[in-house]
Parts: sequence; C-alpha cells; structure tokens
Amino acid sequence: MSHQVTQYIKEARHHGLTNEQIMKALTDAGWQAHEILEFVLEPPRPAGASADAIISVRGISKQYDKTKALDNISLEVKRGAVTALLGPNGAGKTTLVRILATLLLPTSGEATVNGLNVVTQPQKLRSAIGLAGQYAAVDEVLSGRENLDMVGQLYHLNPATAKARAAELLKQFDLEDAADRPVKTYSGGMRRRLDLAASLVNHPKILFLDEPTTGLDPRSRFTLWNVIRELVEEGTTVLLTTQYMEEADQLANHIFVIDHGHIIAQGTANELKKQVGGDVLELHMTNHDDVSQAAELIKEFGDGEPQANSSNGIVIMPTSQGPSILVEVVRRLDSAQLKLSDIILRRPSLDDVFMKLTGHGTQSNE
Ligand SMILES: Nc1ncnc2c1ncn2[C@@H]1O[C@H](COP(=O)(O)OP(=O)(O)O)[C@@H](O)[C@H]1O
Ligand SMILES: [Mg+2]
Repeated sequence: MSHQVTQYIKEARHHGLTNEQIMKALTDAGWQAHEILEFVLEPPRPAGASADAIISVRGISKQYDKTKALDNISLEVKRGAVTALLGPNGAGKTTLVRILATLLLPTSGEATVNGLNVVTQPQKLRSAIGLAGQYAAVDEVLSGRENLDMVGQLYHLNPATAKARAAELLKQFDLEDAADRPVKTYSGGMRRRLDLAASLVNHPKILFLDEPTTGLDPRSRFTLWNVIRELVEEGTTVLLTTQYMEEADQLANHIFVIDHGHIIAQGTANELKKQVGGDVLELHMTNHDDVSQAAELIKEFGDGEPQANSSNGIVIMPTSQGPSILVEVVRRLDSAQLKLSDIILRRPSLDDVFMKLTGHGTQSNE
C-alpha cells in the first residue's frame, strides 16, 4: 500500500496539489486518514538539499538542563560514503548521533534519515539503521554467538535465520574461534568487532559508529578501519564520530569539524588542510622548558602565532616562507643556546587545522 500511496503523492505534488488536496483525494478514494498521514506529511526535499543526501539535519539544537549540547546544527550526509563528525570530548557528537538514531529527542530543529523524520517516524526509521555505541552494548556473560543470536531475535528474525546471520557475522569479523566463549574473556578489539557485528544483524543501509576505535591499540584500530571500508564498498552509508584526526583522515570522504555544539568547518581532509595553507614548522626542544623562548625567537617567520607545548617540548608554527628559514631558525636558537633535538618543515595535518580553528587540540593529541 505504501508504494501506491507514495507514488500518488509524488505525482500529485508534481502537479502542484497541496497537502490538504492530497489528503482529500486519498480519503475520497477510501484510505483512512491515519494510514496515509505520515506519507503526506513527509516533507518534500528542502530547497538546496542534494539528491544523494541520505541524512539531512536542519537547525537541530539540544538543550540538557544547563548545557546547550547542540546549537543550530545543519548538515547533510551523502549516500554510500563515510562522513565523520570530528571533535573533542563534549563537542556534542554522541548527542547528534543519538538524535539521528531516534534514541533522543532534539529540543528544536528537524532531521530526516533515509527520508524518514527522526521525531515523527522513529519506528520505520529504526529498521533502516544500525548503531554501534561508544560504550559497547553487548552482554558480558553471553558468548559472542549468543549475543548476535539475541539481537537477531530482537529484530524478529526466525530462529534459523538468526542463527545463520550470527554465524555469517562471526566469520566476517574474524570471531569464529572465540564465538562460544563469554564476551568477558574478549579483548577490547574483539568486543568492538562484536559490537559492530551486532549493529549489522538487520543489514542496515545506514550505520552510525560512535567513536568506534577510541581506546583501541593501533592494530585493532587498523583492523576495524578495514572492516568499515568493506562495509562502505558493499553500499552501506557510514556516519562515524571520532576525536582522532587520523581516523577522519583515513576513512572519511567528508568531515564535519564540531566543537561546543557548532559545526566550525567542513570539507574533505585535503580541503581542510588547505585552510591552514603553507607549511608547518615544528621544533622539538631538548629541554622542554625552552619552548616559550624558542617560540619568541621564531615568531617573525610565521603566518600565525607559534603554539608552545612545554609538556612535550614541541613548538608548532604555520609558515609560508619555505625551507630557506630553516638555517636562520637554527642559527638563532644556537646563539641563544637553546638545544634542538629535531626540526621539521611539513605539510599541515588535520591536527593543525583543528588547532587553528579552535585554538586547542583534541584529547587525542593533548
Ligand atoms: N544526559 C545529559 N545530561 C546533561 N548534559 C549532558 C548529557 N549528555 C551530554 N551532556 C553534555 O552535553 C555536551 C555534549 O556531550 P556529548 O554529546 O556526549 O559530546 P561528545 O560525544 O562529543 O563527547 C557535554 O557538555 C556533555 O556534558
Ligand atoms: Mg561521545
């Protein structure tokens, strides 16, 4: 029935009929108002929204008691790609993902996921999405297989189908050997893989990954990145949150930089890096206490203020004057008797972008 109705609505809109006229025509044809209301009310694509957007967020705000976690956020997520929400702890990433996954109501604003409104059509929307949480939602006492089986049953798969899907996922995520052990014996990396597998039981079109690799060792992180890449190749759309620049750089086709509930920049990793422009000069001081003095001495070669970090002894400064400044920088530090353990002139990284935009680092590099 839904196909017939949506097809009619599409044509009626094309001919300029209003929602009221469409409702009247459909009820005259024998439909009950409550059966068709949500199809009629489903908003047409907003002006400026692109056809390949699968998630569209328009002016979403979220106020907890005293905290404004999201402040008028608007963004679009492209179908079949990886989009990253990059930002430090407390930026509002989890809040936005929970709103899009229909687990939390926004204070104001609108969002659609796969054409469905997150506030008015949560039931339908849930069957299209998967969510792997920042805090893995698997049962410790059960085995990996039992966990996946249980999720299958929650999605009303028949027992045989649920079992088959569990076996398939255990294989795909390299968990076959550990499949029948309680999850409490799993490593961090295995748990994350199981959590991700659980979010895929119902073959979601859209997958939300909230900090999928936070706290993992580099090898497990790398494995998970490959799994995510494979899912995207198979056509899944991924929206992931991360506080790791490198993760966004490696995985994301498009990055939204979020801080204090605001989108402060967006683009591909390369576009964001270009915003910093030029090169970055990096000094590693042998004596960490020398950073402020060193920063003062090199200041005039920079395009912006040098950032001195006395805890790691590193001074970072954007510059567009090229390698010719290196000799002069070394000479000056030498005559002030400040010892260098390293000096590097490099292309900007996403860390530099974040530093430039916010004046502070993310937790991962502080
Ligand atoms: N349930 C809640 N009640 C009150 N404040 C909250 C709640 N959840 C999150 N916050 C606050 O909202 C802000 C955004 O949090 P969150 O979305 O978890 O950020 P992130 O996931 O980027 O770390 C933070 O200041 C956080 O303290
Ligand atoms: Mg979070």
